[in-house]
Amino acid sequence: MSAFQLEVLKQLDILGEIKSTTAVFANVNPQDVLSVLNSLKAHGKLTYTKNETITYDLSEEGNNILNNGSHEVKLVQLINDMGKLQIKDVTSKLGPNGKVGQARAFKNGWIIKTKENELELSDKAKDPSAIVDETKDILEKIIKNEPIDNKIIADLKKRKLIIPKKNADFSVIKGPDFSLDLIKSETDVTSDMITSGSYKDAKFKPYNFNSQGIDPQSGALHPLNKVREEFRQIFFSMGFTEMPSNQYVETGFWNFDALYVPQQHPARDLQDTFYIKDPSKSDLPEDKVYMNNIKAVHEEGKFDSIGYRYNWKAEESQKLVLRTHTTAISAAMLHKLAKDPKPTRLFSIDRVFRNEAVDATHLAEFHQVEGVLADYNITLGDLIKFMEEFFAKMGVTGLRFKPTYNPYTEPSMEIFSWHEGLGKWVEIGNSGMFRPEMLEPMGLPRDLRVLGWGLSLERPTMIKYKVQNIRELLGHKVSLDFIESNPAARLDEDLYE
Ligand code: PHE
Repeated sequence: MSAFQLEVLKQLDILGEIKSTTAVFANVNPQDVLSVLNSLKAHGKLTYTKNETITYDLSEEGNNILNNGSHEVKLVQLINDMGKLQIKDVTSKLGPNGKVGQARAFKNGWIIKTKENELELSDKAKDPSAIVDETKDILEKIIKNEPIDNKIIADLKKRKLIIPKKNADFSVIKGPDFSLDLIKSETDVTSDMITSGSYKDAKFKPYNFNSQGIDPQSGALHPLNKVREEFRQIFFSMGFTEMPSNQYVETGFWNFDALYVPQQHPARDLQDTFYIKDPSKSDLPEDKVYMNNIKAVHEEGKFDSIGYRYNWKAEESQKLVLRTHTTAISAAMLHKLAKDPKPTRLFSIDRVFRNEAVDATHLAEFHQVEGVLADYNITLGDLIKFMEEFFAKMGVTGLRFKPTYNPYTEPSMEIFSWHEGLGKWVEIGNSGMFRPEMLEPMGLPRDLRVLGWGLSLERPTMIKYKVQNIRELLGHKVSLDFIESNPAARLDEDLYE
């Protein structure tokens, strides 16, 4: 129990009732008074009623009068010192309030006006005891909170000498459980109270339905997951199915060979790709026809291709790597599709790994958003049209396409969008028509063409959440508050603007 709670109870005991808390506890903040009254009331110690009282503060002018005298008295003193005062000099001598003083001094019969437009003291005012500064006296009463006639209050308000102030005041009487000590109320029924039966006599604190609840503890989605969810919805809305992407380790075969990446390609270097040490190898697909086709298409060419003309080695294919792109999964899924070829739309959004220098916007691992669309006799025109539809779902329009090179697609195109903020075209994705050297070894019919594209998940996320440094988005420096307080992502307005 706080000292003040006890003080309230003591006063109530001594006085029988407290008629005005502002009078009895003049120095206590009314807010604190109220909270103590409420808690004592909850314990049945007292009840109270609220009365609003009005007191007055002095305005700046009111304070000035209180300290230096009213304008009218100042004017009388001045005329007394000077004998006479030209009316036109009143303001220059006494300031803008001189005219107020002049009017009130006339009203009090303290001054008269001569024919020469001068002010002189009246006979009455020549007796100094006749000059009573009523304005100053009344302001003194105001600050002492003495009772004052309503008319006078209205006049002082009109003259802007006082400012009304509302005060919450309370009158307090003893409650049914009044005593000078506080029994601590119980807040919960415990199993002990039930077994001992003590709950029967226990005092329970009443519910406070006005209290603010505690924010419920809950998990929060990482911003990357929020944006990922938006992309998923876009894919689903366009009839795509999600590929199983929960496999970070792949054979070099699915990551590279199946995609017609030659075994001496620089992307397969240790500097670019993370290789697994233990185990370092895994099995190749059991589909013998497929394996022979891959070997053939790499070595001497097949399906109208002249191949790379080098010695393809199965051991190189068996090496385990951390997948460098999700296209490894797309390849395995297309190989499955070859058993029952038909128009298909697949997507994945998951993590990939590249042995790259880490900087403000790049880590050695990131997430790719990848889509694959298979249909009969589709062309580059369909790819362009489809990309425009896909990116329009994120509010990104006016795309431009630039030829590029991927070992597994031909033609290949980088996708650009105009970045209003940067004032330039920025690359937002990579795409292409998968090569016959990749599709035909699987057994897919020649006229079932497959287009694919990919983009990073981090880039739109960083733009969306205005994160400048990737380390603020991923890793040990990420603020949990940032993760918990971010709103859900909406990709419906132009992301790259
Ligand atoms: N795998 C490509 C990348 O890493 C993206 C891509 C996927 C390109 C499918 C074409 C087709 O950027």
